[in-house]
Parts: sequence; structure tokens; C-alpha cells
Amino acid sequence: MTQGPLTTEAGAPVADNQNSETAGVGGPVLVQDQLLLEKLAHFNRERIPERVVHARGAGAYGTFKVTADVTKYTRAKFLSEVGKETEVFLRFSTVAGNLGAADAVRDPRGFAVKFYTEEGNYDLVGNNTPVFFIRDAIKFPDFIHTQKRDPYTGSQEADNVFDFWGLSPESTHQVTWLFGDRGIPASYRHMDGFGSHTYQWNNEAGEVFWVKYHFKTDQGIKNLTAEEAEILAGKDPDSHQRDLREAIERGEFPSWTVYVQVMPAAEAATYRFNPFDLTKVWPHADYPLIEFGKLELNRNPENIFAEVEQSIFSPAHFVPGIGPSPDKMLQGRLFAYGDAHRYRVGINADHLPVNRPHATEARTNSRDGYLYDGRHKGAKNYEPNSFGGPFQTGRPLWQPISVTGVTGETVTPVHAEDNDFVQAGNLYRLMTEEEKERLVKNLANAISGVTRDDIAERAINNFRQADEDFGKRLEAAVQALRG
Ligand code: HEM
Repeated sequence: MTQGPLTTEAGAPVADNQNSETAGVGGPVLVQDQLLLEKLAHFNRERIPERVVHARGAGAYGTFKVTADVTKYTRAKFLSEVGKETEVFLRFSTVAGNLGAADAVRDPRGFAVKFYTEEGNYDLVGNNTPVFFIRDAIKFPDFIHTQKRDPYTGSQEADNVFDFWGLSPESTHQVTWLFGDRGIPASYRHMDGFGSHTYQWNNEAGEVFWVKYHFKTDQGIKNLTAEEAEILAGKDPDSHQRDLREAIERGEFPSWTVYVQVMPAAEAATYRFNPFDLTKVWPHADYPLIEFGKLELNRNPENIFAEVEQSIFSPAHFVPGIGPSPDKMLQGRLFAYGDAHRYRVGINADHLPVNRPHATEARTNSRDGYLYDGRHKGAKNYEPNSFGGPFQTGRPLWQPISVTGVTGETVTPVHAEDNDFVQAGNLYRLMTEEEKERLVKNLANAISGVTRDDIAERAINNFRQADEDFGKRLEAAVQALRG
């Protein structure tokens, strides 16, 4: 802002910003005090709807650098050369809390990256967990309702949380992960990120690969115990946000080494797990991590509202060489985010500085709507046109996949080793004795808040099926707490 007198929104100088205008000294306020009315009216409209999930978050800009050649897997231009750099914006978040909630809570963390590539913005909207609670988008609103405030009590209720999880055994893997040590990261800098879903990469020759992304923190993993988090959440609700901003201000730029697991398309049909089931990981022994990049955050946003609150990320923002997989959850997400953005930020949300392409420009024939800035000037707004307007390329961003069968409400296909418990059990058995103890304690504390025995028992039974010892210990711990 330039220096000079305070003005109204229309730019007229303000004489008095302390006293409103009255009819005589001590008399009622006048409608002609337009400064007062303008200030009150603008203030009433300062808030936009918060994100329905992931409302609480922090963001920063940085750079993604290619460190290994992956051109045999993808033709994405921003990945075309070792050493190539692309600007990024990353927003971290918690999931269940509202905008003012504390950061140090047991909850997955969002890990949403926007790559400002020369072929358009590529958004990878992931979490700090490699898997998720459910595998079909149709269950997402119900699931989130159990995580948010109960319509009658106005609080999060253990009954709802464990009722849904107990009745949704596919959640067992993610819940085991969440109540383990990594369920409360010490900060956004000290956790990994995952694309979680399987995505498609395709190369110049049109060959298809299914991939999973991993961002491994170079700061090392650091977590909070349940007891530490309880204290920190009360003392410093903004702990994660503050930590990120201050680290960048100090010049301690957090970074992540970026890996991909690559599955040749032909292997998907016979892989031992359904590779498009978001409740499962691909064991590294089957598909090793291939390192290909480094992501560094090095610049704080200047205005949180403009750049973080109004930032929009969509799993549907792909670039040539990258596309979706048939994962049913992902398919639902391809709709949900754009729709949320249009509601939350408006139809021209993509025009805001944080959201628009930085390394190319958007050339569309869409026009107008609230807060349209006239960027297209007098250009024709239809296609095809003979006035040199933008033209279609004829080359899809991703390769088609073949499908068979009849339409219907179908269950996600089960592969040879798939069931809802196998990977949860494997995760439990990987833990050290101390880790198992903390996991059981954390879960038992949460389950003991349930009011109905049948809900508690059904929830425990899922962990029993994952691992006999896990179930036995959990049952004993819950009994000890519930009496
Ligand atoms: C079908 C399942 C899902 C649906 C319908 C869904 C829907 C949404 C919606 C509506 C938002 C708010 C968007 C906005 O207002 O800008 C959101 C945010 C977010 N979701 Fe999901 N979500 C789903 C699953 C997932 C999964 C599996 C992940 C991670 C792998 C994820 C990660 C995120 C992240 C990181 C954000 C915050 C993005 C930001 O920082 O702006 N979501 N989700």
C-alpha cells in the first residue's frame, strides 16, 4: 500500500476515523456517515465458508527439483530433466477441527502440493498417511459426520467415531496407523507426506504406469505423545503453524525427499492386493521407492487469508503425463473439490494469485461471474474460432483404460491377499513392544469414552481380527478403564 491519507473504499480521504457522525452532540447516528456504514458492512462479510474438512491449516511456497530421470515413466514436462525446478505452494492441515482448532491433536494431516508447472498447475492433494479409512467416496460424508460435532451434543462423540469404524472394518488399517506414534506429529516439518491414492503416469510412447507418491521428511520424524499433545494444544493452539512460519523466517527451510513406487500397468490385474484400494499400501518389497525429487519450502505467504484460506487444491488438476486411476475414492474426489471451491471461494477462484498458473497462462472461453477481473479483454469467447483463439490439442493428458461389465453399485474388487485386516495386522506386528503399548493405550482411552458396550466390542473385534494379541490387549485395557 502506498503512503498517504486513510481513504474510503472508493478512495476519498477520511477526516475522522474515531468518531461517527451524529445529529448534534449526543444525538443519533446519521445514515450519511458512509464511512461507518461501509466499515460495518465490510466487517460483516470478512469470513468465507471454512473448508468442510481440513479447515485448519498453514501454507508456504517453495521449490520442487528433479533429482533423477523418470522420463521413461511420465512425459510430464516439469519432470523432464534432472535439475529442473518448479515453484510449489504446499498447504498442511488437520482434518476434523474447525478453523480455530488446536494443531497438536490426533488426526491425519493434509499434505496438499500445488506444482506451478509450464503445462498448468498440478495439484497432489495428499495426507501424511499412506492409506485412508474408507475405499468408496459414497461413504465420505457419513465418515466425516462422525468426526465432526454431533448434531445434538455439539461435540465430537466417541460413540459416533467408533460406531462408524466398528461397522466399517476397512478402516482398521488407518485407525491402527492413527492411534500409533505417528498419529500426532510434532510439527508439519517432522512428518512424511503421501499421495495415498494410486495415480497414472504415462510416457511419450503412451505406456501406462500406476504410481504412488511418497515425501519423506529430511527433518526426521518427530511425534508427540498423547500427554505432550494435550498440554501443547492448550498452551499453544497454533503450534504447527507457528513452527512452520518461524522455521522459514529463520532460514531453516524444511525439505522432503520425493519418491515414487511404479507398477507397470499389466501387473495391476494380478497383483496380490487391489492396487486401487486406498486402504492398502504396496509393500516396498513388491514396488521399491524410486527417488526422483526434492521439495523445499522457503517462502512464507504474506497474507494468510488471500494465500492460504483462499487457496484451492483439486485432485482433478492434472497435467499431460499424469492422470487418475480407477480408485473409487479418487474418482469421487475428482468431483468434490472443484465443487467445494466454487461454493467456498467462488467461480473465479482460479484467478486468484495463489491459484492461477504461474509458469503458463489459463486460456479458456469461460467468462464473467462474480469478481471477474476482465482479464480476457475483448478476445472471442467461443471455440472453434477463426480469430486466432486458443485451440484443442487432440492429445489427452492421460491414457484410456479398458473396462468391461455392466453398470451397477459395485463392491471394490478383491485380489488374492485382500481383506480388511491383513495390512493392519502387519503394521501392528512391525511395531516394537513400546510402540504396541502406546497404541493399545491410546486406542483404549478413546474407546473407553464409548457409552454402549456393543459399539466398544464391535470396534475391538476389528483389531482382534487384525491380530489376536492386539485384540486381547485392547480388550483388557478397555475393560480396565471401563470397569
Ligand atoms: C471421497 C473422499 C473425499 C472427499 C469427498 C473429500 C472432500 C474434500 C473437500 C470437499 C475438501 C475441502 C476443499 C476446499 O474447500 O477447498 C477437502 C480437503 C482436503 N482433502 Fe479431501 N476428501 C476426500 C478424501 C481425501 C483423501 C483420501 C485425502 C488424502 C489422501 C484428502 C486430502 C485432503 C486435503 C489435504 C484437503 C485440504 C486441501 C487444502 O489444503 O486446501 N481427502 N476434501
